[in-house]
Amino acid sequence: SRQVKLAVIPGDGIGPEVIAEAVKVLSAVTRESDVSFDTTEFSLGATRYLETGDVLTDDDLDAIRSHDAILLGAVGGTPGDPRLASANIERGLLLKLRFSLDHYANLRPTRVYPGVPSPLANPGDVDFLVVREGTEGPYVGNGGTIRQGTPQEIASEVSVNTAYGVERVVRFAFEKASTRRNKLTLVHKTNVLTFSGKLWKRTMDAVAAEYPDVAVDYLHVDAATIFLVTDPARFDVIVTDNLFGDILTDLAGAISGGIGLAASGNINPDGTFPSMFEPVHGSAPDIAGQQVADPTAAILSVALLLEHLGLAAEAAAVTAAVTADIAARTGEKRSTSAVGDAIVASLGAH
Ligand code: NAD
Ligand code: IPM
Ligand code: MN
Repeated sequence: SRQVKLAVIPGDGIGPEVIAEAVKVLSAVTRESDVSFDTTEFSLGATRYLETGDVLTDDDLDAIRSHDAILLGAVGGTPGDPRLASANIERGLLLKLRFSLDHYANLRPTRVYPGVPSPLANPGDVDFLVVREGTEGPYVGNGGTIRQGTPQEIASEVSVNTAYGVERVVRFAFEKASTRRNKLTLVHKTNVLTFSGKLWKRTMDAVAAEYPDVAVDYLHVDAATIFLVTDPARFDVIVTDNLFGDILTDLAGAISGGIGLAASGNINPDGTFPSMFEPVHGSAPDIAGQQVADPTAAILSVALLLEHLGLAAEAAAVTAAVTADIAARTGEKRSTSAVGDAIVASLGAH
């Protein structure tokens, strides 16, 4: 039977609460299949940093790298916590993993599930996929500040876009569009960010010539936020840079009925390094420890993980169980573990 080595990073805040449910569903869906998951838990995040002073050691990174895939809850403390001022868990841990493991395609699918209370009155048939570039843009840390703390301070944060990096994620997005509804929208801000904008646009046009069946479209990011709210059903695949993709996918989570439903996969398509699956949301310190977080995003991230590993039947079973659970939601409050239990109970029933 097939053995999969899975690194699990529960993280901070609601991370451990939602990951407990995700692991519960993963165990249940693989119980009778011929694949078994051998999980190693890594205690990483703000909690670990406050205890030991370590964010992510080289040994941690080596150990994680030796796994087939990673499941992560959320990391980061309460914004503004002075004890974390000099640490930066997000950069030193989450982004370090995405960059070191070359997660250049960050997949963030959005569906408005039947029966879900979307804040949009008539969302229509919403099923789109944001392919967010994951290793470049303003996230690379190419910046600095001078005269810090003075009225003359100048801080810069330079967005880095390489021809190599843009082309590989654009190609990946065309491949995804080809397996879906054959529509790809580039979102950027080419009217103002003209240097990187031209590179993205030129790359789109060049790769589009190889995919005559894929209809291409372009939107400035500000206009894209309008259409995501007024007509989200128009989108199939969206390809965009690291920062625009971050912002658009919280919006996408909100229109899908809540950020607690939004799943993601940080993919290394070459298979050189393990890909990492995580909910789009953060550690939610405002609701942590209360068993009120929605674990659905973490559970749907398990579905993305299974699909990535080629376990299509198991992935479909998880998605079906989640879809059924969402359809049956009445608005009555359930604990985090009650949602996980209900999804486990409906596995196999579909
Ligand atoms: P957040 O996503 O943690 O929370 C935003 C809002 O959404 C909060 O009101 C929260 O209660 C709610 N929310 C989030 N997940 C939910 C869920 N599963 N069910 C119900 N409600 C949910 O964003 P934030 O407050 O900006 O960030 C908190 C911390 O998390 C920060 O340290 C931030 O850097 C970090 N963060 C980490 C990740 C990650 O690890 N992938 C992602 C985003 C933010
Ligand atoms: C996300 C988060 C991260 C990001 C932060 C915590 C570094 O917001 O995964 O969406 O900006 O990518
Ligand atoms: Mn985000």
